[in-house]
Amino acid sequence: MFELSERMKRIPPYLFAEIDAMKKKKLAEGVKVIDLGVGDPDLPTPKHIVSAMQKAVERVDRQKYPSYEGMLEFRESVSEFYMRRKGINLDPQKEVIALIGSKEGIAHLPLAFVNEGDYVLVPDPGYPVYYASTVMAGGRAFFMPLNAENSFLPDLEAIPEDVRKKAKIMFLNYPNNPTSAIAEKDFIKSAVDFCIDNKIILAHDYAYGEIGLDGYRPKSFLENKNAFEVTIEFNSLSKTYNMTGWRIGFACGNEEIVKGLLKVKTNVDSGVFEAVQEAGIAALRGSDEFIDENCRIYAERRDILVDGLKNLGFAVEKPKATFYVWCRVGGSSIEFVKRILDGAGIVATPGIGFGKNGEGYVRFALTRSKEVIAEAIKRLERLF
Ligand code: MLT
Repeated sequence: MFELSERMKRIPPYLFAEIDAMKKKKLAEGVKVIDLGVGDPDLPTPKHIVSAMQKAVERVDRQKYPSYEGMLEFRESVSEFYMRRKGINLDPQKEVIALIGSKEGIAHLPLAFVNEGDYVLVPDPGYPVYYASTVMAGGRAFFMPLNAENSFLPDLEAIPEDVRKKAKIMFLNYPNNPTSAIAEKDFIKSAVDFCIDNKIILAHDYAYGEIGLDGYRPKSFLENKNAFEVTIEFNSLSKTYNMTGWRIGFACGNEEIVKGLLKVKTNVDSGVFEAVQEAGIAALRGSDEFIDENCRIYAERRDILVDGLKNLGFAVEKPKATFYVWCRVGGSSIEFVKRILDGAGIVATPGIGFGKNGEGYVRFALTRSKEVIAEAIKRLERLF
């Protein structure tokens, strides 16, 4: 009786909701499932962050409506974090806003800037929200293929002239989900220059910016000297501090773009619970040793998984960043995922779920202990 809108019909069911359903079915059959599907850290949020929330939640003044843009102190802690970690100067009054997780900000950005029929440049494979938010805003996605030959960086020269003219936003995401690829200075410069030349907003999803392995420090796009002309960077506390359930992130960069996003947000949400922002302040002002230790743990898990997959004959590289392993399996990624779920009780994400160029690959998340990952390898050895 109630038909979905044409826009919603163009959006496939949310990838991770589908995978969750497959996993639940297996659990109901009594299978001891190893979930390497969704990128949801298994390790706890650090204690000092939890305590900050506990204290704040008791305060009556923290129980009221928060401000739309986020508490000034939260925004200041973001700018201190960017200065300390990346040497980037952000004006907390104008260049930073709080988000209910970076996904929320990404989903709302096109509503602020895209008109019916405008293009949004979307990486393929890519985080599904770039496409969904484009369609929800009435825009058209132009997919930029990411493939191994190009180190999973888009070929900007291949974007046709008529698309450039009608493009409003380019989504990029490095360190990359799902491929784990990284972007270095030269590529960042070419992306910033391209967006300046074509008057396009560069929306950089930097959710994995602090998950650098073996001492590698992933670059912020705002490190480029001209980036502030066109860039909004989305960041999240989810992966950096194991806070996925808390729903807190931020957007920073070009003042006008940040302001446009805030205009949408004032109309759809009422900000981030201030007790959660207090926790966010404790996180961002906390010791960076936690971040290093977290990355050390992911590197150890990566080695077990990648070495195990290589021994089985899979073509797979050791990523320098993110907690994902992007493994070439050839053929249908859905068939492969079904095979390892049925035959070994392992949940992984099919590459096709991130776009047609993800076909032939499967993504494993390193969000289980090294013992569990070693067990997954043993099960795969029995299967292949
Ligand atoms: C993923 O598995 O790709 C992420 O956890 C999804 C997200 O961050 O929303």
